Amino acid sequence: MTPPDSAHKSTLPGEDPLRPHSFDGIQEYDKRLPNWWLLTFYATIVFWIGYWLYMQQSGLSVGDGKKIDEHMARVEAVKLAANAALDDPSLWKMSRNPVFTSAGKATFDTICASCHNVALTGGIGPNLVDATWIHGSKPTDLLKVVNEGVLVKGMPAWGPVLGTKKVSEAIAYVLSHHTPPAELSLSDK
Ligand code: HEC
Repeated sequence: MTPPDSAHKSTLPGEDPLRPHSFDGIQEYDKRLPNWWLLTFYATIVFWIGYWLYMQQSGLSVGDGKKIDEHMARVEAVKLAANAALDDPSLWKMSRNPVFTSAGKATFDTICASCHNVALTGGIGPNLVDATWIHGSKPTDLLKVVNEGVLVKGMPAWGPVLGTKKVSEAIAYVLSHHTPPAELSLSDK
């Protein structure tokens, strides 16, 4: 290793000063950071502040719990819809999911409410919120009645008219007014 060359330590006029250390005889200038570099650096800081404020206000914010709940309801809805079997537990699960119940409410209000009332309290058709069921209280019992109807009593068969999806949504909406069996450990609304 050669000792630092002291002759080069002096600063020539117009040149950047040399830093005092030397490694294996190599020395560094004490360079000023270039303007383009400083400008980029400050621009990132300004951008960060603006972006942070934007994210705090926009619906994209990660901390927005309601958005996440809605998203999870949709994820759950896709999973339930993929599970083709419309059995009692899956219909109860649909009844706790706003994706199904809001679609079901729309169907109910336009089609079913004329006989069962918007409040589901009955009219031409029976009350659907009390504890009395003519054709059974299981979700699949309701599914059968709505799909096949009770033609002699004036309840039309909705399966062929509305299709499985709309019928199951309407039933989810009816069930959302009832308490699911405890063993399913679904939250009551
Ligand atoms: C034209 C009138 C009418 C319309 C529209 C109608 N229903 Fe009914 N619904 C009835 C009648 C009447 C009964 C009672 C049948 C009986 O007594 O066996 C009934 C029975 C039912 C039952 C069984 C109730 C029980 O106690 O077992 C369910 C569930 C039901 N309807 C849901 C629906 C849904 C969901 C829709 C909309 C897709 C709908 N209904 C549309 C007239 C109607």
